[in-house]
Amino acid sequence: MCGIIGIVGHSNENIQQKLLNGLERLEYRGYDSSGIALLQNNSIVRFRAVGKLSNLKKLLDTAIIDGHVGIGHTRWATHGKPTENNAHPMMSKDVAVVHNGIIENHKELRFSLENDGYVFTSETDTEVIAHFLQRELVNGFSPLESMRNCMNAMDGAFAIAAIFVPLGNKIIAARRKSSLAVGFAEKNCTARIEKAAGDASICGNMCVGSDAGTLSGMCHEVAYMEDDDIVEISEDSVVFFDKNLHPVTRKKYKVHQDSDSAKKGEYSHFMLKEIMDQPTAIRKTLLHNKIDASLFTDIERISIVACGTSYYAGMVSKYWFERFLKIPTSVEIASEFRYRDPILEDNTLFISISQSGETLDTLAALEYVRSNSNCKTVGIVNVKNSATDRASDVVFYSEAGIEMGVASTKTYTAQLTLLASLALCKKEFLLQQLQNVPTFCESVLTLSAQIKQLAELISRSSSAIYLGRGTMFPIALEGALKLKEISYIHAEGFAAGEMKHGPIALIDEHVPIVLLCPNNELFEKTASNLQEALARGKNIIVITDVDGEKKMPNEVHKLVLPNVHSAIAPIVYAIPLQLLAYHTATIIGTDVDRPRNLAKSVTVE
Ligand code: F6R
Repeated sequence: MCGIIGIVGHSNENIQQKLLNGLERLEYRGYDSSGIALLQNNSIVRFRAVGKLSNLKKLLDTAIIDGHVGIGHTRWATHGKPTENNAHPMMSKDVAVVHNGIIENHKELRFSLENDGYVFTSETDTEVIAHFLQRELVNGFSPLESMRNCMNAMDGAFAIAAIFVPLGNKIIAARRKSSLAVGFAEKNCTARIEKAAGDASICGNMCVGSDAGTLSGMCHEVAYMEDDDIVEISEDSVVFFDKNLHPVTRKKYKVHQDSDSAKKGEYSHFMLKEIMDQPTAIRKTLLHNKIDASLFTDIERISIVACGTSYYAGMVSKYWFERFLKIPTSVEIASEFRYRDPILEDNTLFISISQSGETLDTLAALEYVRSNSNCKTVGIVNVKNSATDRASDVVFYSEAGIEMGVASTKTYTAQLTLLASLALCKKEFLLQQLQNVPTFCESVLTLSAQIKQLAELISRSSSAIYLGRGTMFPIALEGALKLKEISYIHAEGFAAGEMKHGPIALIDEHVPIVLLCPNNELFEKTASNLQEALARGKNIIVITDVDGEKKMPNEVHKLVLPNVHSAIAPIVYAIPLQLLAYHTATIIGTDVDRPRNLAKSVTVE
């Protein structure tokens, strides 16, 4: 989940600012610490700071750096606390390294290096890479061979970029199971450089980074490294090698720019902007995804795997697939699925849902299915060309654009829209209803001020309970997740009918309860659960619709949404819960877009 970047600048180009720009785009992957290292006058200079990137920038304000090759890192701590010593780049004498992933056998490698006299200054697994590479250099191997030997010695998942004093102005990068993209500068643009008064940077740079989006502003094409690839990057060439150091070619793609999504515009937070963007994201997702029902021909089972919010989208879709396609569907958390020897029957459609397309557990589950079955694999992703995109037989894209806020909002409702399009593909009338979702969402977004008042109530509490039945149950789970991740208030979602089997003990006159109660076929049942809650609690917020409101008791706080068809209601009901979490967090004053301990792309187990 750390973010890594490496840039080879043009002669006389100082790439410090470009490294920082890249790290800014990578900060979504972790913000416990950050650092850069550059080659300067035949030695390596390194700067590191704990906390957000702004701290590193402050440090660099007073530093005089002139380097045109460098690497950078934003950290999401795995081994060792977020301290300066544990911040990357890690160094040995002539080597600096940035790393994303986990070296599983780092203890034994460390032991052997310590025995050889290498002194460790951090608690990280990454430091073994720096010293290992150094030891190989001392043993007479070239930087490229050193990297190959290091790869052979390491177990785990990793993406690495390194600079070496003896290699000069080049970067060597390698990966196994963690993604790494290589960016290419424009070819032959001498004339343009001359026109731009010698400014070589207009052609972009050869570079490497954790994702193609980060590189998009600084290169013209990207290629994705494959497992165990090693790449040597210099100012005007990129050479890929396989694990035996045989040169290989990797397909290049034009980079995709989405500059609008990367700007906050008039909004105080990306999260609010992204919540407000949802009608557009859903419209685009509907427009670009016309589903061919033949996808389900001969399919007897659907198996869905995902993590976090994407998992909750999968849970909603189970209700849809079983009700509207009559196909038995299972939904599972990816980190559980892959380790329990799942039975994979033929004629199962395997769907992995991942906004980033890079979540390691989800990818590993997909890999497991590909290696152990003949199931057709479908990816639901937001990031094009991501690892899930490349590894799936069939891919559908949510068209939400880049999501900058760490908490998923627009990508979640876009995923739901896509899953609904799949599940409703044989139901013409309901597909028509689905087209109305953006308009309903627009109307829900106008309730923001009212939701802010309700958020006052939640912000005064240390915990909250979310309840729903049917498709509203996973929506309640997601509402609780949103609240806890950005406001740090403990929140739990429950199936409303399950309360009496234990969780009801949590209810007292203080704890806020958010009950999702649209006027659907489960209305009466949910309303009974409301009575049970009312008998024991006081702070109850009911989210219902125009028809449901008429049947609600007076003692509850009501948020009234438009009447919508129950098949599409989950998408619409997700939105007030996002706003409730957002306003609660802003009242409390947390860092909404960069909540503590989290990262947007989870590339470790
Ligand atoms: C929560 C959130 C996470 C992600 C999860 C999976 O707001 O965003 O729970 O949903 O880490 O990420 P993707 O969808 O990228 O696989």
